[in-house]
Amino acid sequence: MSHMLHLAGIESVVLERAGREHVRTRLRAGVLEQGVVEMLRELGLGERLDQLALKQSALDFRFDGASRRIDFEAEIGRNVWVYPQHEVVTDLMNARQKAGAAIFYEAPVQRIDGLEGERPVLHFEHQGESCRLECDYVAGCDGFRGVSRSAIPADKLKVFDRIYPFGWLGILAEAPAATNEIVWGCHDGGFAMQSIRSPSVTRLYLQCAPDENPDHWSDDRIWSELHKRLDVEGMPPVNEGRVTQKGVTAMRSFLAEPMQWGRLFLAGDAAHIVPPTGAKGLNSALADIKVLARALVAHYREGADAHLARYSDTCLRRMWLVQRFSAGLCTMTHQFPGQNPFVQRLQRTDLDYMTGTRAGRLQFSENFTGLPVEA
Ligand code: DHB
Repeated sequence: MSHMLHLAGIESVVLERAGREHVRTRLRAGVLEQGVVEMLRELGLGERLDQLALKQSALDFRFDGASRRIDFEAEIGRNVWVYPQHEVVTDLMNARQKAGAAIFYEAPVQRIDGLEGERPVLHFEHQGESCRLECDYVAGCDGFRGVSRSAIPADKLKVFDRIYPFGWLGILAEAPAATNEIVWGCHDGGFAMQSIRSPSVTRLYLQCAPDENPDHWSDDRIWSELHKRLDVEGMPPVNEGRVTQKGVTAMRSFLAEPMQWGRLFLAGDAAHIVPPTGAKGLNSALADIKVLARALVAHYREGADAHLARYSDTCLRRMWLVQRFSAGLCTMTHQFPGQNPFVQRLQRTDLDYMTGTRAGRLQFSENFTGLPVEA
């Protein structure tokens, strides 16, 4: 956000609760939509991306003992790229630092005042002192637990929420992926995934209980479950390697409406959470930012406020489509405790339809590689 404003000659200040190293190294998502890759290149952030990102042109679904690939490049000529989120963050931090940006780390915001007036005020702490920052607009990019969303009066905010009765145990393994494709295992024993972080590092996930203790998962147990859920005849088995990280993620769908209040604009996790199936978290945050940056540029350059006024509607329309895709995939691919066998058969049939018909493959391909972002 601040990089895009800077390129348009608009000044901004970034207030970040965490420290610089935490921000730079925190392990998160890994898949970028084509439009996001194009946007990062346009913003002058494509250099390391073009060296390190791994293009993915297909996704390999495994169910009923067989591999059923959706080749989105063949279907619609679009792709996704594996490029870890912390690399995107590193590129952004480097670009901002080079431009002499005003970024305050370890600067938690306590309160935001005056959002309905002309000059909102952010109250924050920095190096033991209480500080205040007056501004024109606030971009609330402070995540699900940030203060921005709570600055909107509760009676003006409508919240939509679904919590899933499972989580993902995620590991990083020092091993090249068995195949150079993201693989989804939709198994009666639970969902599993092989993704990629680099030519020598695999990212793997296993459906587990939402409150699972990762210490209860020995490396042997992890590999045995991954083989059970992902291996099929005719394809190389999951490639084992030293496990270097292990953690559990809870799964949730969440959306707050509207995404704007007075001079505050929510973006990314501050407004919405998706379950990780479909890899839409980071991509959706960047879609919001693209809409918001353009709207602010139109305001400062042309005095045109129509885009700002439409910000919430523009983002919500796309975000509901993304919620539909992420929740739909999550529901189609995971085992729900105590699930009715009829529903289980429908899940298989949905997978069969999605991978086995042109309409199904097209729908997946369009959504996975990224829906258009409106100006
Ligand atoms: C990742 C990849 C996916 O395709 C997905 O749906 C979720 C996460 C990943 O690489 O982390």
